[in-house]
Amino acid sequence: MRAMVVVLVLAAAGAAAATTKKKECNAGDKAALLAIKKALGDPYHFASWTPDNLCCEWYDVTCDDTTDRVVGLSVFQDANLTGTIPDAVAGLTHLRTLTWHHLPQISGPIPPAIAKLNRLSLLIISWTAVSGPVPSFLGGLKSLTLLDLSFNSLTGAIPPSLAALPFLSGIDISRNRLTGPLPPALFSKLNTTQQGGAYLRLSRNNLTGGIPAEYGGVAFEVMDLSRNALSFDMTGLRLQEGVSSLDLSHNMLYGGVPAQVAGLSSLQDFNVSYNHLCGELPAGAARFDQYSFFHNKCLCGPPLPTPCN
Ligand SMILES: *[C@@H]1O[C@H](CO)[C@@H](O)[C@H](O)[C@H]1NC(C)=O
Ligand SMILES: *[C@@H]1O[C@H](CO)[C@@H](O)[C@H](O)[C@H]1NC(C)=O
Ligand SMILES: *[C@@H]1O[C@H](CO)[C@@H](O)[C@H](O)[C@H]1NC(C)=O
Ligand SMILES: *[C@@H]1O[C@H](CO)[C@@H](O)[C@H](O)[C@H]1NC(C)=O
Repeated sequence: MRAMVVVLVLAAAGAAAATTKKKECNAGDKAALLAIKKALGDPYHFASWTPDNLCCEWYDVTCDDTTDRVVGLSVFQDANLTGTIPDAVAGLTHLRTLTWHHLPQISGPIPPAIAKLNRLSLLIISWTAVSGPVPSFLGGLKSLTLLDLSFNSLTGAIPPSLAALPFLSGIDISRNRLTGPLPPALFSKLNTTQQGGAYLRLSRNNLTGGIPAEYGGVAFEVMDLSRNALSFDMTGLRLQEGVSSLDLSHNMLYGGVPAQVAGLSSLQDFNVSYNHLCGELPAGAARFDQYSFFHNKCLCGPPLPTPCN
């Protein structure tokens, strides 16, 4: 997951290099940027954001090549930046990418102002002190393809409204304090021909309940739900071919490991260790190592050293 975040940030930086031209941005966008700077207390981070520099050249800012609109704002890696994500971001109406990453002193909630950014495709708020709920208004950002809210202090349940997003194919809200169940219809509108498989990373929260039966109809590529408080009979779990990584370790799963799941030929990483599973492992399990299955109640058979009686 860390690798994914780094890749995204690098991609954002690369995009900035590719599209930033030496020109002045749209006047409304410029006013919004200056309001953001002011709301954060005119910090050193935005030292380049002055009338002496063309605003498409300002640090963290990306303009569109053909229009003068600001399409990307990526604020990252500054332990000195304090305050909350300013409402003034709503003034950047053409934004496609918004990143607040590795800002340990940025706190407060995800502001409702973000709901106005209806062109937003990529929303990354990660490694910050941002708290409060994962707002249900994110379900109104119809262009969203990727939502990364990992490594924050978010609480409450995952809003079912996210299921309505037609282009969303990746959700990472790992390492927060989420509670409640997984919403059933997540990724139900995903067009895999266009967007590839879905990935869902929610490790290290306090999610409860089971994996909704509807997920059996979703083309998942990665599902990481490790270190939660999930409690369900795994025997009934069914997943589609195409899943390459499934980590359910450190939960309270019971029942047995289904042959359908262990037998998925796409599955490369599989981990159900540290649960309460029991019974004989299916034949497909033998291609993984014993550490994929250890620390359960009474699993037996290869690759575990415990023979079944
Ligand atoms: C953060 O503040 C410290 C102390 O004022 C300073 O030395 C450092 O350069 C600042 N870092 C950034 C990224 O502005
Ligand atoms: C999960 O809940 C338990 C019990 O309420 C609590 O001790 C723990 O800190 C919580 N973990 C997270 C990641 O929120
Ligand atoms: C999915 O996307 C492909 C490629 O863009 C398109 O041809 C197809 O009609 C789409 N399917 C649905 C159900 O929208
Ligand atoms: C599965 O997860 C456990 C617990 O985090 C870890 O110790 C183990 O190495 C993992 N197994 C594999 C095969 O990655």
